[in-house]
Amino acid sequence: MIVVEGRVFLGGGLEKCCVGIENGRITAIKKILKGDERFDFGNSLVLPGCIDAHVHLREPGRTAKEDFYSGTLAAAFGGVTCVLDMPNNNPPVNSLENLKSKLDLVKGKANVDFGLYAALTKAADTGSLSKTATAFKVYMAESTDTGGISTGREDLEQVLSSAPAEIPISIHCEDERFMKKMEEKSLEDHLLARPDACEVQALESVYGIARKAKSRFHIAHVSSAEGIQFIEMNKKDLPITSEVTAHHMFLNVDNGPGAFGKVNPPLRRKRDNEALREALSRGAIDILVSDHAPHTMEEKEEGFARAPSGMPGVETGIPIMLNLVKKNITSLERFVKAASAAPAKIFGLNKGAIKVGSDGDLIVVDLKDVSKVRGHDLHSKCGWTPFENFEAIFPVATFVRGNLVVQNGNLENERRGRVVHA
Ligand code: NCD
Ligand code: ZN
Ligand code: ZN
Repeated sequence: MIVVEGRVFLGGGLEKCCVGIENGRITAIKKILKGDERFDFGNSLVLPGCIDAHVHLREPGRTAKEDFYSGTLAAAFGGVTCVLDMPNNNPPVNSLENLKSKLDLVKGKANVDFGLYAALTKAADTGSLSKTATAFKVYMAESTDTGGISTGREDLEQVLSSAPAEIPISIHCEDERFMKKMEEKSLEDHLLARPDACEVQALESVYGIARKAKSRFHIAHVSSAEGIQFIEMNKKDLPITSEVTAHHMFLNVDNGPGAFGKVNPPLRRKRDNEALREALSRGAIDILVSDHAPHTMEEKEEGFARAPSGMPGVETGIPIMLNLVKKNITSLERFVKAASAAPAKIFGLNKGAIKVGSDGDLIVVDLKDVSKVRGHDLHSKCGWTPFENFEAIFPVATFVRGNLVVQNGNLENERRGRVVHA
């Protein structure tokens, strides 16, 4: 048994105690535990490992930007012990064959646990895909590398109704009818081209379908104050969940880093940042994700119009949020729920809580240990961050099913990650 001791987050609060892990699972939680290997973290916090339900690790097809090894390495250093990887690869993950070959390709490379999305399209064999995929993804609009897997309006209802009820469908909500085709030179232009109405109108369509369909919908990267208002007004009768990214909570067209901040849905305004932070803090938005979507510096420097949309974030989202917990802006309970417990529940993972029977995924955090985000210290292949100089609290240690992966900024054990379904 391995034993991790500290101030442990148990259900409602912190308790000084020991967590015992055997064969990857938590088997005991007691004041005193003896074990073969002991880690005493004193007064540091021991929290459930975080789950990032929206990443793009670019394998197969775009491994100059990222691959499964580097992307999950960044995750581990950022306190994320499980990632769910998106299907906009090359080839796209839209068939059982492509899903299985992606799984074969990435197996053995991951540093944290992972699940795979399958693209839900008109032609998809949902029955067979849902045995191997953790969730489905629907792109309502064109985004980076979504050629051939996005769903037009005419097919939306049929596609959204086609998955078994047990498996969640994450939806990229932008309505193309409200986009403007224009020459874009700045973040302001990108916002004009994809205004708030795109998001709200897409939400209207999805919620309309949800009233009839049996499927379980999850709204990807909510980005506007209007979008939150719509979600809250319609929350009562529909079990639809939603997510927010750190970039939509902290970056906007005025403080954002030019083409490096080009992303879909776009960065909007300061008031949207504030509304999104408040929505996450009061639980109007269920979970925190990164939408880690790395592109190379060369690509981002090709000029605004040519730069691809997306930015990295899997290593910085949790550390930036932990700094808000330290400042009492977000409560520790709400943080754990949004980063661990709720994503585990939505995506059906035996993770996200420190309790007997759960996977032994833990992070250790010292809230006094505030540092600054520096692009060159991060582990993504892309080598840059939109959060340069942001205050952050990186975990002291990360355990994946009882394996110590990261401690004090060092990689201790690699390739310990496993697929969560299949
Ligand atoms: C993502 C990417 O690069 O894969 N880009 C983005 O702007 N968010 C795709 C997506 O999530 O829409
Ligand atoms: Zn998207
Ligand atoms: Zn994405």
